[in-house]
Amino acid sequence: MADSKASLSIDGKEVAELPILKGSAGNDVIDIRTLGASGYFTYDPGFLATASCESAITFIDGGKGVLQHRGYPIDSLAKEANYLEVCYILLNGTAPTKAEYDEFENIITNHTMVHEKMANFFQGFRADAHPMAMLCGIVGAMSSFYHDDLDITDPAQRMRCAHRLVAKMPTISAMAYKYSMGQPFVYPRNDLNYAENFLHMMFSVPAEEYNVSPTLAKAMDRIFTLHADHEQNASTSTVRLAGSSGANPYACIAAGVASLWGPAHGGANEACLTMLEEIGDVSRVDEFVKKAKDKNDPFRLMGFGHRVYKNFDPRATVMRETCHEVLEELGVNDPLLDVAMALEKVALEDPYFIEKKLYPNVDFYSGIILKAIGIPTSMFTVIFAMSRTVGWISHWDEMLSQPGQKIGRPRQKYTGEINREFTPLKNR
Ligand code: CMC
Repeated sequence: MADSKASLSIDGKEVAELPILKGSAGNDVIDIRTLGASGYFTYDPGFLATASCESAITFIDGGKGVLQHRGYPIDSLAKEANYLEVCYILLNGTAPTKAEYDEFENIITNHTMVHEKMANFFQGFRADAHPMAMLCGIVGAMSSFYHDDLDITDPAQRMRCAHRLVAKMPTISAMAYKYSMGQPFVYPRNDLNYAENFLHMMFSVPAEEYNVSPTLAKAMDRIFTLHADHEQNASTSTVRLAGSSGANPYACIAAGVASLWGPAHGGANEACLTMLEEIGDVSRVDEFVKKAKDKNDPFRLMGFGHRVYKNFDPRATVMRETCHEVLEELGVNDPLLDVAMALEKVALEDPYFIEKKLYPNVDFYSGIILKAIGIPTSMFTVIFAMSRTVGWISHWDEMLSQPGQKIGRPRQKYTGEINREFTPLKNR
């Protein structure tokens, strides 16, 4: 419902009157859906000021450093809920009762195994394939294994897809890792919780027993929680756009995985570790900070800055605490982590980073924690993808449940040639 109206004048002449719509929090939006009839499109290639949809899942106030899922602040969720509870909240809209939680946990636990034929699928990849490349392919291929529940107009079938994805992503992710290591796949264990089970599938081998450390499982769970959803980021918007055509959910999530892979998005945690390796020693931190500040040098400090958070990233605040806890508890002695801590200090104190509001983001700390836990760098973005799957599928489900849902179809500002005369090839 329109609460007030904006009028658009061009050269003093009003061309359109546009309703202003209010959400429950955050910026109001100017509804430009009818603007095309006036002969104008809006132009916002990076979506800097465009609300692409209506959503009740996640609220972010970047200026104030607020992040809430279904109205619950992220720091409470990170500290007082576990990842599966957050999954329930994202998918169902509110915190579960104990009975609802138990039922949800039971469903997820009992869907962790994947079709045995999926193991064969992995064999087609080169041994040195990047785990994200495998994830893109395998997640897309899930539609060929689980085609019985693909009526996307049925909310119950959509929810079954969501459960399958949340349950199976850790299994597939760990399989990608095991394949790249040349080790046998490890089946999930139903007596372990979500994070413990992931670590078990990653690190246990048939030759000896693997005991999951509670500290590491807790840190892992927190990483999952802090990556679970983040409003209309690039990968979530990709999932929505893919899903808006009616594509099957596994294909849509595979599209999300692809979008997340880039270093400006989920690939930042891997890029951050690669950067720390390149810096190599605390004595070289200043040199790299200088490079990051040089306008003529394309180098950026990976793991710093955020499109939305311009004061601090509330996920980074919780992740920072966990990071320091894990480093202390593990007593890790890794020069790379010293470089990371030195970089954090310099960047937090340097006027360039302060003025441009470039703070360490969630991926800076998650990368360090994952490194300390012993997760290889190539798996960092995979872990982000498995954590974000619940967010992606919640948005996909929300979009399909909204009346009047339309295929996403942006327009453009055309800058190419026009009305050229075409000469047949034989005359050219
Ligand atoms: N190091 C050095 N300078 C930077 C950095 C950085 N990491 N990030 C931004 N700047 C500068 C940039 O050069 C620009 O300067 P100027 O105004 O003088 O031209 C200014 O800050 C604004 O940058 P921008 O590129 O216009 O900002 P953006 O909102 O489009 O980009 C970002 C946000 C996250 C892509 C960017 O900060 C970046 O590339 N960071 C490094 C990659 C990274 O850590 N990404 C993970 C984001 S968090 C996880 C996720 O959501 O996936």
